[in-house]
Amino acid sequence: MTDYTHKQGLRAALVTGAASGIGKGIAERLVADGFQVTIADINVDGAREIAAAFNEAQGASVAHAVRIDVTDEASVASAISQTIANWGRLDVLCANAGIYPGAPIEDISVTDWDRVLDLNLRGSFLCLKHALPQMRTQGYGRVVLTSSVTGAVTGFPGWTHYGASKAGLLGMMRSAALEVVKDGITVNAVMPGNVRTPAWADLPEEYLQTTESAIPIGRLAEPSDIANGVAFFADERSSYVTGQTLVIDGGQVLPEVPMN
Ligand code: NAI
Repeated sequence: MTDYTHKQGLRAALVTGAASGIGKGIAERLVADGFQVTIADINVDGAREIAAAFNEAQGASVAHAVRIDVTDEASVASAISQTIANWGRLDVLCANAGIYPGAPIEDISVTDWDRVLDLNLRGSFLCLKHALPQMRTQGYGRVVLTSSVTGAVTGFPGWTHYGASKAGLLGMMRSAALEVVKDGITVNAVMPGNVRTPAWADLPEEYLQTTESAIPIGRLAEPSDIANGVAFFADERSSYVTGQTLVIDGGQVLPEVPMN
């Protein structure tokens, strides 16, 4: 039987985009699982609030906030250095920060296109690039990307740039997984469907109902649903799983014909 106890102490994680939505849910779950977590976000005030709330709830220093702009390599390098300085290690990287502006193809400027690809795809590459040296030194690491069903499995009008970025993440993941496989590092991805994050507050109730009726489980995902999948990939026990994806969508991509 495999003994995991020797891995105790391998418990430091960095989550990008952790001041809101899915990233916040991932950070919350990792803290509950015993990780020390860096709450990394461009919204550093939001990140600080969340870290303070986690520390208060746990009665211990389990979270700290750093500013990160994943489009800026120096900022990524600095956030990762601060994480290692703070916790002494970096065991789990959750490259989660992303944006999803929608627009018809003809209305997407090159600047808009580049912004989505820079943040969602290149940003995750930069986080991976700067996390790997520490993980290789440790001979241990878990990288979990937040992709999406959109682009990689499904299409959605208005999300050509977004879909390209999320499908691109999976291409990066497969090659990266092989590059680091001998160093005890795994690279996997979660692919959420529709998740109840703050963005939904701005959408009409009718759109919510239409979306929920297309989800066999009958509800949007909560950030905690996505975090549960991330927690599996972040765990020591997923050591034999790399370069893989987990769709977390309440069965949304499954039906061959509409269910109702
Ligand atoms: P959100 O908007 O609630 O949170 C995103 C966070 O990223 C915010 O705190 C924001 O400040 C931060 N951020 C934005 N630009 C940044 C930058 N340059 N550097 C660092 N942080 C930055 O978004 P949500 O919904 O939680 O999405 C998180 C991830 O999940 C994204 O990658 C998104 O594409 C993906 N996703 C979301 C789905 C959903 O239904 N909400 C479905 C599938 C995937």
